Amino acid sequence: MTLSAAPFALPFAPRRIVIGSHMHAPLMDWLRERRPELETRGGKFTEISAADLAWAEVYLGFKRPPSDPSLGNVRWVHSTGAGVDGFLLPEPLAPSQLLTRSSEAFGPMIAEWAVARIFAFQQQLADLAEAQRARRWAPRAIAHVTGTRALIVGTGEIGTAVGRALAALGCAVTGASRSGATRAGGPFRTVHTVSALPELVGDADWIVLTLPATLTTRGLFSRALLSRCRGALLLNAGRGAVLDESALPDAFDQGWLRGAALDVFEAEPLPEASPLWADPRVMISPHISGITTVAGAGAGFLECLAELEAGRLPVAWVVDRVRGY
Ligand code: OXD
Repeated sequence: MTLSAAPFALPFAPRRIVIGSHMHAPLMDWLRERRPELETRGGKFTEISAADLAWAEVYLGFKRPPSDPSLGNVRWVHSTGAGVDGFLLPEPLAPSQLLTRSSEAFGPMIAEWAVARIFAFQQQLADLAEAQRARRWAPRAIAHVTGTRALIVGTGEIGTAVGRALAALGCAVTGASRSGATRAGGPFRTVHTVSALPELVGDADWIVLTLPATLTTRGLFSRALLSRCRGALLLNAGRGAVLDESALPDAFDQGWLRGAALDVFEAEPLPEASPLWADPRVMISPHISGITTVAGAGAGFLECLAELEAGRLPVAWVVDRVRGY
C-alpha cells in the first residue's frame, strides 16, 4: 500500500478541531467528555467558515466546507464516513494534509440493507402490500434466496460483510476487486479482478456494488457491462458515480436486470425529475445503508489522535491516495 509519510513531525498533538457534520453537537459533547482539553468548533459542513478553517489544525467531517475547499490551515483531515471521495475528488487535498478515515464498521449495517432488499424483491413484498391495500387475495410462487448466486464487487470490509450474510443464507458468493486477492476465511468462493466482470455478471442473481468513487471506478458499470447481465437484481451501496444510472431503464426493458436497489446516486439528493423515482423496478433509499454514529466517529478519531500523539502514523486508517480509499 502506498502511504504518504506524515506531513508533519511526529509526535503531533493538535488541539484545535473543527467538526463539519450534522451531528456536530453530540460529537463535540462526546469528545469533550473524553478529551476536555481539546478545543472544538462545529456546524453543518456548509456552515463552517473560512475563519474556522484558518483557526483549526484538524477537520473532522465527511464533506469539504464550501467556504474553503482547501481547508485553510488544517493539517489533518479525518473522514467520519466510509468514503473519502469528498476529500480526493475532483481535486485531492494538498499532500501536506494527512487524510485518515473512520474505523467504524459499516459492513454489518450495509449487509442488513442488502439482505432486506434481496428478500423484499424475492418475497415480492411491494406487490403483496399493494394487493393487501386493495383487499386482494393474490397467491403466487415465491422463489428462494438459498441456492442463488451473488457477485460482490468490492471485497473490503463492507463487501466481505455483505458476502458473509449472503453465504449464510445459502448463496454461492463470488467476489471482484481491484487486486483479485482472496483472503483466507472470507465468504468468497473465488475472487477475480474487476477486468473479469464482463464474464462474471451474467452468472449472478444479485450483484452488490460496494465500491468507492475513484478515478478508476467511475462509470465501471457502464451500459456495455450492464448488457452482459442476465436478469440480476443490482444493488448499489457504494457510490453513484460507479453506475451509469441513465442506462438503467433500458437495462430493465432489455431484461439485463430484473431491478435495482439503490442507496447512492450520481447526484444526491436524487433530483425530483429523475425517472428512477417512479419506476416500480427500482427500490430507492436516501444514502442510509451505513450510517455514521457519534460513538463510531468519535472513537475512530480518538484512536488516530492517540497514535499521532504517541508519534506513530495511524497506518490502518491513513488513506492511500493512489488507490483512493
Ligand atoms: C459513505 C458514508 O461513505 O455514508 O457513504 O459514510
